[in-house]
Amino acid sequence: MNKELIELRVNGRTHEIAVEPSALLLDMLRQGLGLTGSKRGCDDSSCGACTVLVDGVAMMSCTLLAASCEGQEITTIEGVREHGSLAAIQKAYGDWGGAQCGYCTPGFIMTVKSLLAENPDPSEADVRRALSSNLCRCTGYNQMYEAIRSAIEAERKGLAVAK
Ligand code: FES
Ligand code: FES
Repeated sequence: MNKELIELRVNGRTHEIAVEPSALLLDMLRQGLGLTGSKRGCDDSSCGACTVLVDGVAMMSCTLLAASCEGQEITTIEGVREHGSLAAIQKAYGDWGGAQCGYCTPGFIMTVKSLLAENPDPSEADVRRALSSNLCRCTGYNQMYEAIRSAIEAERKGLAVAK
């Protein structure tokens, strides 16, 4: 199949890459750019492990064509660090044991980032609704919710997360 040259803007950098029209964003990120933080858990928009931000909105990269993202700002877990430090939500995940196997964690964090950008003070119900698109197979959701609550609180106060 013929490849076309596109420009993908990922984590603040522009990459010129040749892609087939059917190439998926997840494959371009992982194999084309070596950004392996986004994971393939299901391949059919069921698990959220591949979630990235496209213009700030959480999207599942396993069912998104790479070419359709040209001209948009893509953020992966590798681009979440803020000013050289872990973002509040990443630090809170570590503090509260939110990351267990870690496979699903990047997707959860991207979903939380999208939620907080849209609504800096979400209710418990808002958080649960947003996270319903992501699956953790370890059944360890309580630590995740504690981490998210802690990160929301820290962002609200503008302080470092302290357990
Ligand atoms: S790999 Fe994309 S939603 Fe599961
Ligand atoms: S922590 Fe990843 S599947 Fe549970």
